[in-house]
Amino acid sequence: LTLEGKTYQFPIVEGSEQEKAIDIAKLRDQTGYITIDAGYKNTGATKSAITFLDGEEGVLNYRGYSIEELAEKSSFLEVSYLLIYGELPTTQQLADFEYEIKTHTLVNEDMRKIFEGFPVNAHPMGVLSSLVSAMSAFYPENADQDPEEVTQLHIIRLLAKLPTIATWSYKKSQGHPVNYPKNDLDYCSNFLNMMFSLPVANYEVDPVVSAALNKLLILHADHEQNCSTSTVRLVGSSHANIYSSISSGISALWGPLHGGANQEVIEMLEAIRQDGGDTQKYIDMAKDKTSGFRLFGFGHRVYKNFDPRARIIKKAADDVLNKLGINDPVLEIAQQLEKAALEDEYFVSRKLYPNVDFYSGIIYRALGIPTNMFTVMFAIGRLPGWIAQWKEMRTNKEPIGRPRQVYTGAPKRAFIPI
Ligand code: MLT
Repeated sequence: LTLEGKTYQFPIVEGSEQEKAIDIAKLRDQTGYITIDAGYKNTGATKSAITFLDGEEGVLNYRGYSIEELAEKSSFLEVSYLLIYGELPTTQQLADFEYEIKTHTLVNEDMRKIFEGFPVNAHPMGVLSSLVSAMSAFYPENADQDPEEVTQLHIIRLLAKLPTIATWSYKKSQGHPVNYPKNDLDYCSNFLNMMFSLPVANYEVDPVVSAALNKLLILHADHEQNCSTSTVRLVGSSHANIYSSISSGISALWGPLHGGANQEVIEMLEAIRQDGGDTQKYIDMAKDKTSGFRLFGFGHRVYKNFDPRARIIKKAADDVLNKLGINDPVLEIAQQLEKAALEDEYFVSRKLYPNVDFYSGIIYRALGIPTNMFTVMFAIGRLPGWIAQWKEMRTNKEPIGRPRQVYTGAPKRAFIPI
């Protein structure tokens, strides 16, 4: 084949100079050449200027700023602005952004009527994904408006309303009325107030709790092309509206192999505690493929080193529990498991280090967040990343996502009528 003045021989030998020289994407586009990569393990599905991730070194940057610095020095809305608009905001830009968000924290009362129809034991992620999808009906596009202004308004609405909606499931599970937003509070404190304040008792948001939540949300804000983010991009690539695209991301995040893992981790740690806390027994079971036991929270598709978020969360978990005077035996079990695994050849040779989900549930528990809300917290954190990725994909006018397949079914068969 001759393409753009270069000649290619088929089959292409793996590792050959020719293979290295080929822009596979271009070749696929022009020849129909297909390679299989189930789950897009190593195929870049897109180019992106948002998040840099080096899995070998354990480095994570948002728009060039290190996750360590952002988690230490920024507010979640500052990081959201950075991800979505590409630059850290000036003081005035941040104040305007915060103000805009505060003016949109209320949710259309008719959405509450939809919510009332959900059973009390519905998983909060199913409720969240449905209600975010419903937002497209309550906040439709207006054909007379400038499309950029409309998109900007949708972005603000999503950031403003997601925490409000997220608290409803919890309030219902407690048999309590929902709380309205309190706009004199910052983003995290407002969420905590809607979760925990009751009409009959004073509730003061603890600044330690609010600061810990701020850090957790920043650490979860983006993570390049993971399952939910690629879902948001793929759905959005058909020009589906932003609410449907984000709703599909929430559904993708729900699964135990993705955002649902932190719920699995805490349930696993709790089960180990109830079984007497013998961590070595569980390390041995994890190594024994016939045991059926899986050590949740260890290893990551991309990281062959420590997940940098896990390092920060581990320290934050220690600090928060100390400051709040909480002695959670599950934290000790987590620490013992980590120590045992990091000293064990089986885990070391497979580069199975603790990931972000391993410690996040322990902090959420300390903050009073119930286990079935852990993935919801992840979704609130990931929202600006999804929005940024959706916006980048649309701004770059990317084509509709359309993976090809390698057909493995029956060859052409003659139809013989019965
Ligand atoms: C994430 O933060 O999205 C998870 O670590 C999963 C991933 O990146 O694949």
